[in-house]
Amino acid sequence: MAKDGSQGMSALLEPIALANRSTITLAEDIRADNETLSPVRHNDVMPAIIRAEKFCLYYGVKAGVKDINMDIFPQSVTAIIGPSGCGKSTFLRSINRMNDLIPNVRSEGTLYVNGVNVYDGRINLVNLRQQVGMVFQKPNPFPKSIYDNVAYGPRLQGIRGGRLDDMVETCLKDAAIWEEVKDLLGKSALALSGGQQQRLCIARALATRPKVLLMDEPCSALDPIATSKIEELIVGLKNAYTIVIVTHNMQQAARISDCTAFFCMGELIEYDATNIIFTKPSRKQTEDYVTGRFS
Ligand SMILES: Nc1ncnc2c1ncn2[C@@H]1O[C@H](COP(=O)(O)OP(=O)(O)OP(=O)(O)O)[C@@H](O)[C@H]1O
Ligand SMILES: [Mg+2]
Repeated sequence: MAKDGSQGMSALLEPIALANRSTITLAEDIRADNETLSPVRHNDVMPAIIRAEKFCLYYGVKAGVKDINMDIFPQSVTAIIGPSGCGKSTFLRSINRMNDLIPNVRSEGTLYVNGVNVYDGRINLVNLRQQVGMVFQKPNPFPKSIYDNVAYGPRLQGIRGGRLDDMVETCLKDAAIWEEVKDLLGKSALALSGGQQQRLCIARALATRPKVLLMDEPCSALDPIATSKIEELIVGLKNAYTIVIVTHNMQQAARISDCTAFFCMGELIEYDATNIIFTKPSRKQTEDYVTGRFS
C-alpha cells in the first residue's frame, strides 16, 4: 500500500458543488443530487471512504493533531496507535465532528467522508453522526431498556411497529448479543455486564445504519473474554462497515486491523498495512513504539 495515496486523486476529490443547498447531507442525498461526485480511487483499486488532507485540529492555540494526510478504506478495520496524548482520540472525533462540542476548537485542512468535506459549514451534523457512529471507551448505555437503547435512533427517524422490532433484533444479532438478551428486552440496559453493555452500545450505533463506526479504545474497560467477543464482532462487522479503532493494545491492532496508523505528538508518523507496521516499519519511531522501546 502506498503511504501517500494522493497521486492522481485530487481531481476526484474536488469539493462537491453545493449550489442551492443550505444544508449538506452525506452520501445518498448528495450522490443522487450531484452526478459530479465520483468515488475516490486509491491505486485505481479501492475507493477511500475517509480522506484527511493537511488536516489540523486545535484546542485554542494548542494543536491536537497537525497536518494529517490519510486515506481510510471501506469495509476494513483501521487501527490508530500511539502514546498517550498523541492525538488519536482527537483525530477519531474529528471524523464525525464530535470535537465541535469542546469550546475553542478549530480545524484547518479538509476531512472528507464519502467525498464530502465534513468541515463545510453547511453540513448537517445529525446526519453526519448517524452515518459516522461512535463507540466510546466506557460503555454508555442510556438508562432505558435494552430494546429502547437500540430503538432510540430508528425512532428518531420515524421507524415504528414491526419494522422497528425487526431492526432492533437485527442490530442485536449483528452486535453478537441477541442470544444473551432476547428474553430480557424490556429490562434495564444498566443491569448488563460491561462487555454486554459495550455490545449493546455497538448495536445502538448500528441502528442508525452508519457507514463508518469509530471506536475509541472500546475494550479498555473489559476483561479478556469480553474483549475477545468484541474483537470477533469487529472483524465480522467489517464486511458491512468501515471501522476505525483507537487502541493501546498492540496485539489487538495486529489481530483485527487491516491498516495501522502510528501517531506521535499530534502527527501521523507512519501509515501502512498492519503487517508492515508490525514487522518492517519504515520509521524508527514506529519500530520503537511497536516493539515497546518507546521512551
Ligand atoms: N478537550 C481538550 N481541551 C484541550 N486540549 C485537549 C482536549 N482534548 C485533548 N487535548 C489535547 O490534545 C492532545 C491530544 O489528545 P488526545 O486526547 O487526542 O490524545 P490520545 O492520543 O487520545 O491520548 P490517550 O491515549 O491518553 O487517550 C493532548 O495534548 C491533549 O492534552
Ligand atoms: Mg484518547
